Amino acid sequence: VDSSGVRHFTLTAAAGTTEMLPGTSTPTWGFNGPVLGPTIRARRGETVAFDITNDLPEATTVHWHGVHVPARFDGGPHQTIEPGARWEPTWTVNQPAATLWYHPHPHGSTEKHAYRGLAGLFVVDDDEADALDLPKTYGVDDIPLIIQDRRFTADGALDESDPTDVGLLGDTIVTNGIAGAHLKVGTEKVRLRILNGSGGRMYNLGFADNREFAMIASDGGLLAKPATMTRIALSPGERAEIVVATGESPVLLRAFAFDDHAGVAAGEAAKFGLADIFDILELRPAANPGRSAALPTTLATLPRLDPSAAAAQRRFELRWFMINGERMDMNRIDFTPTVDSTEIWTVRNVDNWPHNFHVHDTQFRILDIDGAAPPPELSGWKDTVYARPGATIRLTLRFSEYADPTYPYMYHCHLMLHEDQGMMGQFLVL
Ligand code: C2O
Ligand code: CU
Ligand code: CU
Repeated sequence: VDSSGVRHFTLTAAAGTTEMLPGTSTPTWGFNGPVLGPTIRARRGETVAFDITNDLPEATTVHWHGVHVPARFDGGPHQTIEPGARWEPTWTVNQPAATLWYHPHPHGSTEKHAYRGLAGLFVVDDDEADALDLPKTYGVDDIPLIIQDRRFTADGALDESDPTDVGLLGDTIVTNGIAGAHLKVGTEKVRLRILNGSGGRMYNLGFADNREFAMIASDGGLLAKPATMTRIALSPGERAEIVVATGESPVLLRAFAFDDHAGVAAGEAAKFGLADIFDILELRPAANPGRSAALPTTLATLPRLDPSAAAAQRRFELRWFMINGERMDMNRIDFTPTVDSTEIWTVRNVDNWPHNFHVHDTQFRILDIDGAAPPPELSGWKDTVYARPGATIRLTLRFSEYADPTYPYMYHCHLMLHEDQGMMGQFLVL
């Protein structure tokens, strides 16, 4: 933090090697290290300033997923950093406490860059969240989990061959960059900040003994109150913060079969990886755990939804690498929302493939899914939502503060292969 209160970060993207599999050296890419990147942490109200260098052999970008950020600093496909070049985005953090993330977004190569290891968390803190009695000691009872799937060649390199229709699917889960991860937990309860950092895999997460956990936050911040659950589904790019009591013996965090796929052609679910089951992380409790407080009964006050205030309604049909029948064109602006106005977007997956839908710059709320109110885990702030084949999802969203007649924001399917193939569009906030 400098004398004017600006919080500075330096990131360098470079190639290295990582022991993802025991005893095997795998060539990977990372920020400030061989794989993934440091957790960026900043408070609401603080100005952050980045000095980002690209030491990779090809151009990349750094996008702030879920972050409310001026369009010219969004790090989408228009903010290319050439090899050897630097990029210095800066903005004042103005959003609630949340687990956000950053990853490359070079048009056509996002999946490859993320698969090779470029991704990190971006945690926002604020006074309201700090005042709550939640596990919050980073690395002790507040643990980041970046969950990804990988395939390896015989010589231990990342296998980038044979993408499926949802992208590169791996047969090995790496959690925070390593396979077979475990975590020693010294407290009664642990908070897991979970990111689905995979390119195309859906996870239906729970514990092997089906124990309950409390979900406390979705993509863009705390839920109104903790939601007791035994499973949480995350499509690529989505996050969930959960708090679980560890008990006396080890327990496995597991990805169960992802069953929310009515509408996928019969027999096709397996080819999208939806039937796969993986162990993600073993929690190993200490013999004499430190006490953890009971969870607060309320967490945050979410604004009431008022669909009648919407200034515009827009429709998005997802089908076959396209949105509304078109592929991404870097030179085409698809629409221009007005700054500080509310809109309602209706997203329909008219395909028989699973998709999801992500919007840059803003956090939205889900009005309804197929006409029904969203379940607790989808009732808070979201920036990415799973779209089951056949589903119709209505979102309400608002683009505030940053009008820019030159630089667009993106919206897209966050299955990274689909995004790379052009299932993306762009809008200017005017
Ligand atoms: Cu997580 Cu447009 O990206
Ligand atoms: Cu994004
Ligand atoms: Cu898709």
